[in-house]
Amino acid sequence: MTPHDVMVHPSPRVRGHVRPPGDKSISHRYALLAAIADGTSTIRGYSTGGDCASTLACLRALGVPIEHSGGDATGLHLRISGRGVRGLQPPASVLDAGNSGSTMRMLTGVLAAHPFTATITGDDSLRRRPMRRVITPLQRMGATIDSADGRPPLTIHGRSALQPIDFSPDVPSAQVKSAVLLAGLQTTGTTRIVEPLSTRDHTERALQAFGVRISAAGREVTLEGGQRLTASTLEVPGDISSAAFWMVAAAALPDSAVTIEGVGLNPTRTAIVDVLRRMGASIEIHAGEQTSGEPIGTIVVRHGPLQAIEIAPEEVPGVIDELPVLGALATHGGELRVSGAQELRVKESDRISALADGFRRMGADIVEAPDGFHVRGRTRLRGGEVDAQHDHRLAMAFAVAALGASEPTTIRDAGAAAVSYPEFFSVLESLRA
Ligand code: S3P
Repeated sequence: MTPHDVMVHPSPRVRGHVRPPGDKSISHRYALLAAIADGTSTIRGYSTGGDCASTLACLRALGVPIEHSGGDATGLHLRISGRGVRGLQPPASVLDAGNSGSTMRMLTGVLAAHPFTATITGDDSLRRRPMRRVITPLQRMGATIDSADGRPPLTIHGRSALQPIDFSPDVPSAQVKSAVLLAGLQTTGTTRIVEPLSTRDHTERALQAFGVRISAAGREVTLEGGQRLTASTLEVPGDISSAAFWMVAAAALPDSAVTIEGVGLNPTRTAIVDVLRRMGASIEIHAGEQTSGEPIGTIVVRHGPLQAIEIAPEEVPGVIDELPVLGALATHGGELRVSGAQELRVKESDRISALADGFRRMGADIVEAPDGFHVRGRTRLRGGEVDAQHDHRLAMAFAVAALGASEPTTIRDAGAAAVSYPEFFSVLESLRA
């Protein structure tokens, strides 16, 4: 075992209360927008994960003063001195987005509108991921972007005057939508995006929290360029995609009950609740107040007999990050068939083949398809040795599957969980009952 390997023992049930870490998607957006706002923003509950640290490191390298003024295991308190629209400074060296696709894609949108050249690279996983989806629209807007045949590193030759576009992306992607909106802020005219399927709307809500007017109706978003951002005071809700691991563990194991507090309930992220109910879990939701334009509340999940369900292609964007752990749920019983999820193949790993490989090593019945997978939970897992392949969500999904096995499971590269949830394995121990 290396320090990054973790052995997970089975557990008959999980019980307790969890406050998940600050939402990763929202944290990136608040930091990026605070960096180009006028004035000093304060952010509470900023994600403690490695990906959001990559965004801060890139912003610091672009001349943005960021003060860390406390916080706890679930979130950092930050003060970010905004440099104003187009106020970032040319970086002295190559920017490193680490493992974070969100950092690379959204920052590319911001840099497209700065009149200097900057290069963004990342780790081995990020350097394999497709970037044409942001390069193509941003080039239409007037930036020049060099890449390694559509993959990182990206060298962005920005322009101070971009043109607005009407854009219909081929892939439903909140990161792509956000990159185009961030560039669209710095045009004179109207940028319009029509998505093939709706994706998370955190950028739209965050822009409003910084005083920007933006309109959204159905799958269409429209933004007038030339608006400035006003610094804001923001609070990041708990991350429902991190909470999903405990929601699934509670749904999977008889006699379990887990209460998730302070969690974001944005309707573009709560499809997991509907899927878990279909699979047999009993779920209560207590809505709380909005924070910085994002709904927040408490979710209580209890086990129920597991059912066979399908996730249809049009549901995929709503649960894209939860699909590995939903696969883990079906290893405990019931059955899950997912299609239209080819996007999983270009995440931090090829999540379809890496998931199938790990689950099979643990004794699961899983069939891989080009665009999804089918798991049947007819027999109890044995446990064994699996490789997270440097993918945080796989490390955590394997751990949730391992809770139901007859023997312990060793997860290689489990340290990858720190990309979004550094406390994951200690919280897991605290929920054993
Ligand atoms: C994210 C959007 C999703 C998601 C990723 C975070 C975001 O990716 O998988 O973890 O913060 O916008 P895509 O937008 O590329 O589907």
